[in-house]
Amino acid sequence: MPRIVVVGSINMDLVTLAPRFPGPGETLLGSRFFTAHGGKGANQAVAAARLGAEVAMIGALGRDAFGDQLHAGLAHEGIDLAHVARIDDEGSGSASITVAAGENQIIVVPAANARVSLAQVEAARDAIARADAVLVQLEIPLDAVEATLRLARREGVPVILNPAPAQKLPAEWLSLASYLTPNQHELATVLGADEQTDFRELMRRAPCPVVLTRGGEGAWYRDDAHPEPAHQAGFKVDAIDTTGAGDTFNGALAVFLHEGLPAAVRKACAAAALSVTKLGAQGGMPSAREVATLLPH
Ligand code: RIB
Repeated sequence: MPRIVVVGSINMDLVTLAPRFPGPGETLLGSRFFTAHGGKGANQAVAAARLGAEVAMIGALGRDAFGDQLHAGLAHEGIDLAHVARIDDEGSGSASITVAAGENQIIVVPAANARVSLAQVEAARDAIARADAVLVQLEIPLDAVEATLRLARREGVPVILNPAPAQKLPAEWLSLASYLTPNQHELATVLGADEQTDFRELMRRAPCPVVLTRGGEGAWYRDDAHPEPAHQAGFKVDAIDTTGAGDTFNGALAVFLHEGLPAAVRKACAAAALSVTKLGAQGGMPSAREVATLLPH
């Protein structure tokens, strides 16, 4: 059973289903509202746990009703929460999400996630050192992200940096990542490159191995063994809600990394495809058995 550590955000998602996205100043009637457990870090942790990994999470929640619900949800998935802090004077993170025609728009308020600290990462050194892979994203303070990259590298543990939401990052940080897992827009942003540049060219420019997600078209990967970007086709499904597809991809990639990059990318594409067939970021995250049903023998 692979051991995965996730350093990242935990949010309550406030989801509205609408016929289309409203314009500025416009009021629309939606068809449904629900709350769902989310946050890129928590989603990736849940994706890995459902696929059978032993998962520990490093993060922060407010001491509020959302925090209690999110904590209980992660515990129910079997995730080790010893390194999830409860912050007395801050609320839990939230994300206002509009889903229209299978696409989404998201506004995140980090709240307690902004208090994830470097000290918390250092306190989890033993868990990181014992892990088979570490996952980190950009919804927490950058000093905690940097500490995670450096600590994982020092301990010789593969570290996956999912640069979402994207911002320009120092090249030295990128070179610490064992794998960078952006979409095309995120890769251009982290590199400070022109958005119009061909994504394969951007992949060649990155100072570390890259696994680039392309939604329903699947993913591309480049590492030392595949110096030219290689393609894994996506799996055809009826998309209901793409929220959390990238997180499912990352969680699965970490879990299956020990099978080699091409196999891990293939299984991550299958897991991500299954995840979009149900509502909510974590709603459609599959088990390993469900992933196997999508893969030809
Ligand atoms: O990647 C999807 C996630 O982004 C949502 O669950 C939301 O909480 C935001 O963090």
